[in-house]
Amino acid sequence: MTAVTESVRLEREGDIALVVIDNAPVNALSFHVRQGILDGVKAAEASDAKAIVLICDGRTFIAGADITEFGGPAKGPSLPEAQGAIENCSKPVIAAVHGTALGGGLEVALCAHYRVGVAGAKFGLPEVKLGLLPGAGGTQRLPRIVGAAKAVDMVTSGEPISAAEALEVGLISEIVDDLRAGAIAFAQRAVAENLPLLRVRDRDDMIANTDPAVFDAIRAKIGRKTRGFLAPEYNIRCIEAAVSLPFDEGIAAERELFVELMSGPQSAAQRYYFFAERQAQKVPDIPKDTPLIEVNSCGILGAGTMGGGIAMNFANAGIPVTIVERDQESLDRGLGVVRKNYERTASRGGITAEEVETRMGLITGSTDKADFADCDMVIEAVFENMDLKKSIFAELDIIAKPGAILASNTSALDINEIASATARPESVIGMHFFSPANVMKLVEVVRGDASSDSVVATTMAVSKRIGKIAALVGVCNGFVGNRMLAMRRIEADKMIFEGATPAQIDDVIYNFGMPMGPFAMSDLAGLDIGWSADTSKGETLRDRLCESGRRGQKNGRGYYTYDPETRAKTPDPEVVEIIRALAEEKGIEQREVTDQEILERCLYPMVNEGAKILEEGIAIRGSDIDVVWINGYGWPVYTGGPMHWADHVGLAEVLERIEHYHSTLGGEHWRPAELLKKLVAEGGSLQGHTNG
Ligand code: 3HC
Ligand code: NAI
Repeated sequence: MTAVTESVRLEREGDIALVVIDNAPVNALSFHVRQGILDGVKAAEASDAKAIVLICDGRTFIAGADITEFGGPAKGPSLPEAQGAIENCSKPVIAAVHGTALGGGLEVALCAHYRVGVAGAKFGLPEVKLGLLPGAGGTQRLPRIVGAAKAVDMVTSGEPISAAEALEVGLISEIVDDLRAGAIAFAQRAVAENLPLLRVRDRDDMIANTDPAVFDAIRAKIGRKTRGFLAPEYNIRCIEAAVSLPFDEGIAAERELFVELMSGPQSAAQRYYFFAERQAQKVPDIPKDTPLIEVNSCGILGAGTMGGGIAMNFANAGIPVTIVERDQESLDRGLGVVRKNYERTASRGGITAEEVETRMGLITGSTDKADFADCDMVIEAVFENMDLKKSIFAELDIIAKPGAILASNTSALDINEIASATARPESVIGMHFFSPANVMKLVEVVRGDASSDSVVATTMAVSKRIGKIAALVGVCNGFVGNRMLAMRRIEADKMIFEGATPAQIDDVIYNFGMPMGPFAMSDLAGLDIGWSADTSKGETLRDRLCESGRRGQKNGRGYYTYDPETRAKTPDPEVVEIIRALAEEKGIEQREVTDQEILERCLYPMVNEGAKILEEGIAIRGSDIDVVWINGYGWPVYTGGPMHWADHVGLAEVLERIEHYHSTLGGEHWRPAELLKKLVAEGGSLQGHTNG
């Protein structure tokens, strides 16, 4: 065994040389790995070895370029140099894949003459998720093996394929049982049978007759989902280049587009987000060795909008659920919705009919809370009412076994007060899921004053296990997400009286990249929540809208009118008139409100509130706030979330506008956060601010 660099070594098994990469945790292509591959392959070529196996230690094959190096000074050989050593080697090079061959990792493997993998290996080009495209030949080599249609699908989705599929499409030559032994055996066969040195770049058979319709088809398929993102379109253009240009020209086109994305703000935001999401899982004041509570069963109280979705998350992860409702009718209705959701997924091919039954089989309905007695964790999802929640937690305290986690899905209430209804506040925590709970990724884990370290650490771990992204937050009204959202609401509601229309405000927010604006959101939720015709005094806009029969999407009329068939919304002049008349009564003069003012007045108070949340220690890090907004509310990840976005705009500029609105409009939500002032004075950033 010879060390080539700090992370690459050369080994020998008979006639076969092994270039072994050991760069924990994911064997990313740091400069010493690129150097090691270049030198290691050259050394093996110069030796009397007859073939070379490229293989990795640890949990995975190379998972891509080292993202931490992006944006820094160039160091060591480039990736194409290291790839060239492999592709142009005069002896067969076999890449042996386990774990995930991703991004630059797959691009390295594509330069080997042959690839083998274990059954669990995965192969993908996920650069699009970082706002990038494969920049080391991936877009030119992959279609030469799998064809343009498959390649364009892989680079625009970023999703990996399994070893079985890789074998089927010819990406690998063999699935091996034992990685090292299997790869060596393959290399020996390559020598014995004098297998040709296949260079993917020289192949044209799979792309020669590409139907250009595949590109239009993918654009049509992903257009809505990728609105605002640059990278998906750039990835498509690269595959188009692969089928229309000679290899070297295709590589040049790929490089040009790669450099443009890499130096642009979208990829910077998406790379920042990659690390933000991972950082959010870490709780600085909880020791890593904190014992976790075993969670093998979960109880859920309430099978309404949220309870049903939460139950699905656990069943999807194979964890048995006991769901309790107040009566049989509510239970049947709730379970009926769950079944319908699964069946809809099955009808679209997402899961099999058998899986529908398996998952439904994991959910047991009941009308008796005593059935929670054996549950390791119970999540309450009944109506948002403090007295009700307290009486329920007092009951759960008696029923649940010692040590069970007692969680509330409240969207705003004080977890400490809920915990005070029990004799075990250390077991109580908030788990704020977002609607629809089976779809939305975010869980705000709300740490009560008394929540124990084990309960916090376990709740974070359970969230991950059920496929969610958790952010740990402290107790305050609305926690992180809804507290910031409320600030946007104040200004949006004011601006429609000043002369902006609901549609204008929604358009500005939608064009910024959010899934919908505040008024479309109100229509979705229903305008009559908490409103009653008996007590309505016709004084507020809501009173007037509801009195004129506008209840939101559910009856086809709200701030907008909705097509009964397509549910498409159209701005409604009658609503604009209702608002105008009310503004006149209130003595508010209407004027033209610019889109820029709308953007500032909707987003800057949110940024300001985010800074207050940070200064109060409600969020651990600025980046956690971005994780909340991207996963809970669909904030466009290509702007990095409200904190990253504000840093990008420039905190001095943001503060100046907040001060302007504070002095002209007034209101506590415009009072500049002390932290914001401090960061501007010291040149700090919101995204980098941490209380940990
Ligand atoms: N570069 C640097 N660090 C990386 C990394 C990378 N490519 N991939 C993962 N890491 C780090 C993570 O930040 C994390 O660090 P931490 O422990 O300090 O928080 C650690 O490795 C473990 O990562 P995960 O927690 O994500 O581990 P999982 O086991 O859940 O997932 C994985 C492993 C599937 C490999 C996942 O980490 C992943 O998807 N990584 C990114 C893969 C990727 O995007 N590759 C393409 C890179 S861009 C590229 O290759 C450009 C090229 O075309 C030129
Ligand atoms: P919902 O009204 O759809 O469901 C509540 C369910 O609880 C009903 O089915 C009801 O029958 C049941 N229930 C009420 N009292 C009960 C009792 N004593 N025992 C058993 N079941 C009982 O309400 P939704 O929307 O699911 O909200 C539940 C909780 O989740 C609330 O605290 C809410 O604030 C929170 N939440 C709601 C979100 C949403 O978008 N709907 C988002 C995030 C949190």
